[in-house]
Amino acid sequence: MGEEKLVIKGGHVVYDGRVVRADIEISSGVVSRVARSIGGEPSVDASGMIIMPCSIDVHVHFRGLKQSSKETVETGSRAACAGGVTAVLDMPNTDPPLDTVEVLLAKVSEARGRCYTDYTLAAGYSGDLGELEKLLSIGLPAVKLYVHELGEDRREVADIIREAALACARHGALLMIHPEARWLLREGEAESPEEYCKLRPLEAELEAIRAVAEAITPLAETPRVHLCHLTSAKSVSEALKLREQGIPVSTEVTPHHLLLSLEQAGAECKVNPPLRSIAEVKGLQEALAGGLVDVIASDHAPHEAEKKKAFKDSPPGLPGVELTLVLVLDWALKQGISPVEVAKWASKKPARLLGIRDKGEIAEGMEADIVALSRGEYRIEEKSLYTKAKYTPFAERTVSVRVEMVFKRGAMVFERDVGVLEKPLGRLLLWDGEKLRPASWSLEKPSTSSQQPP
Ligand code: DOR
Ligand code: ZN
Ligand code: ZN
Repeated sequence: MGEEKLVIKGGHVVYDGRVVRADIEISSGVVSRVARSIGGEPSVDASGMIIMPCSIDVHVHFRGLKQSSKETVETGSRAACAGGVTAVLDMPNTDPPLDTVEVLLAKVSEARGRCYTDYTLAAGYSGDLGELEKLLSIGLPAVKLYVHELGEDRREVADIIREAALACARHGALLMIHPEARWLLREGEAESPEEYCKLRPLEAELEAIRAVAEAITPLAETPRVHLCHLTSAKSVSEALKLREQGIPVSTEVTPHHLLLSLEQAGAECKVNPPLRSIAEVKGLQEALAGGLVDVIASDHAPHEAEKKKAFKDSPPGLPGVELTLVLVLDWALKQGISPVEVAKWASKKPARLLGIRDKGEIAEGMEADIVALSRGEYRIEEKSLYTKAKYTPFAERTVSVRVEMVFKRGAMVFERDVGVLEKPLGRLLLWDGEKLRPASWSLEKPSTSSQQPP
């Protein structure tokens, strides 16, 4: 919890659907007042800065376990904190994969006391429905499926999607989809982003979305479905067709698919799904600007920097958790799009998606998880990144905003001249069927007996 009282003064605050010149009073970690001028000490000067709710990143790979040389929850969440992120959803394609209670307990015990953001995890599904049920009963809020890993054709993947979908519907959990259909991926080696995109064409993405729709539509009970990292306006329209069929669907875009095309990309830009052509990128930007996309997320997928040098042998994935807000806000401002919209994509809608009720907006009664950004001309530098993967395709790009201060429940956790303060204030968040609530990091194995005494 932050100091009893604090006033953030002089900022341009995203508040109540507008940007207003206002001071923010925080009491015991919660926003208590937003008004034109609030007196009182202590206060921090945020004159001229853009003040937004911290981001909630629904798609990160913080690795750990046997891949701790790539990233850990400690290093990933510290990077997130420096980027104005206050809560993350960590993906299950770890080594070993998070599809058993045992691995969940190992992940949580590794993160305990070391996490700078609030933290929750998505379950993987190995085909063992009993284990998936246990993970969902413990309170994981989401299940992640990689369509290309489920099977060779639509029929084969449909059964698995349906099993996971029904489990999600029973628990109110989110079904997250990496949409690429294996039967439309091509074998072969790629030396460049262009060749890689031919091996993993847009059609495979569209087809995977159709396969999900076909699998889920007949179900009596459908879960909420979240389509990750869409790469084109066509994918967004395909996704929204599910909504027309009565399936609650949400769409996600990453900064790399939004801002980089295969024509501009370098060797580090190997990622699944691949970067697309400039024409598709333009379409995706229009879809986001036009309000058709729900959330932006980083898909922070770090690998060792030395492995990302030659395209052919490089593992797919890009780090990005600490740059997402800055990159998207910079782009939005240059397009004449208000920070209010960015706050919807980065904070408000992700909070809703995950069932986080006390964050996602700056408003009286909400937790004071607040990021202050200055305006100017800043160069993105790899050496100042906090992630273990100190590379980014956005290196040397000039951006018009920079994170100056981050507050978590009223406590300053990042300050530009000091860096991330050594205060891992992150809470474990678990799903109670309706919302995400803080839980003990000392997670225990559930009893195997179903006949517990009352
Ligand atoms: O490029 C990717 N990297 N796409 C994924 O879906 C996984 C990710 C990773 O974990 O490295
Ligand atoms: Zn993915
Ligand atoms: Zn991912």
